[in-house]
Amino acid sequence: MSQQEFWNQKFSRDGYLYGRKPNSFLVSCSSNFKKSQRFLCLGEGEGRNAVYFASKGYEVVALDASDIGLKKLEALAEEEEVYVKTRCVDLNEWEPSKKYGSIVTSYLHMYKNEREALFNKIESCLKEGGFFVGEFFSTNQLNYQSGGPKDIDLLYTVDDFLNAFPNCTKHKVEELETNLEEGNGHQGKAYVIRVIIQKN
Ligand SMILES: C[S@@+](CC[C@H](N)C(=O)[O-])C[C@H]1O[C@@H](n2cnc3c(N)ncnc32)[C@H](O)[C@@H]1O
Repeated sequence: MSQQEFWNQKFSRDGYLYGRKPNSFLVSCSSNFKKSQRFLCLGEGEGRNAVYFASKGYEVVALDASDIGLKKLEALAEEEEVYVKTRCVDLNEWEPSKKYGSIVTSYLHMYKNEREALFNKIESCLKEGGFFVGEFFSTNQLNYQSGGPKDIDLLYTVDDFLNAFPNCTKHKVEELETNLEEGNGHQGKAYVIRVIIQKN
C-alpha cells in the first residue's frame, strides 16, 4: 500500500486525527521563524501546524502525500480564514524549486533509507540562517502505546540527524520522554526526538 493510500484511509474518518491545535514543540520554536521568509510544512496531513502558522502571519506552503489530508487542511484554513498553499506530493519525488526561511514537520514517518535524500533536499532549500525544526517518534516509542508506527524502520535515532545536515548547525537534537495530547492519534507518554537545525 502506498503512503497516499495508507494516510487517505486514516484521514477519511470524521474529525482531525491529531487534533486542530498545532504541535507544541513547533510553536515553542516560533522565535526562530522569520515572517518575511517563506514557511514550509512537510508531511503536514490535516493541517494543524500550517493553519496555525498562517494565522500568525507566515506565508505557508504545505506538502503531503495525502490528498484527503490536504482537503481537510484547506477546510480548516477556510474556517480559520487563512490561506495555505498546498501541494500533494510524495516527498521522495519532491524537487524543491524555492528557498524557505523555515521548514517544519511533526511526526513525518519516512523510511530509514529515504531520509538521507530528504534531509539533503531540506538542507538545500533552506535559506542561509533558516531553520529546520521537527518532532519525530524515536525508536524507543516501540515500547509505548501513545501512537506512531510499530515498524522500527519508520522510527528515528539521534544519529539520523547528527549524521546528516553537514552545512548546518545543530542547536538541538534531543531524545526525551514527553506527554502527548494531540487528538485521538497521539495520547499519553511518548518517546520523541526534537531537532532545531540552522543552515550556515
Ligand atoms: C503521523 S501523520 C502527521 C501529520 C501532521 N504532520 C501532524 O503532525 O498532524 C504523517 C503524515 O506524513 C505524510 N507522509 C508520510 N510519508 C510521506 C511521504 N513519503 N511523502 C509525503 N507525505 C508523507 C502522511 O501523508 C501524513 O499526513
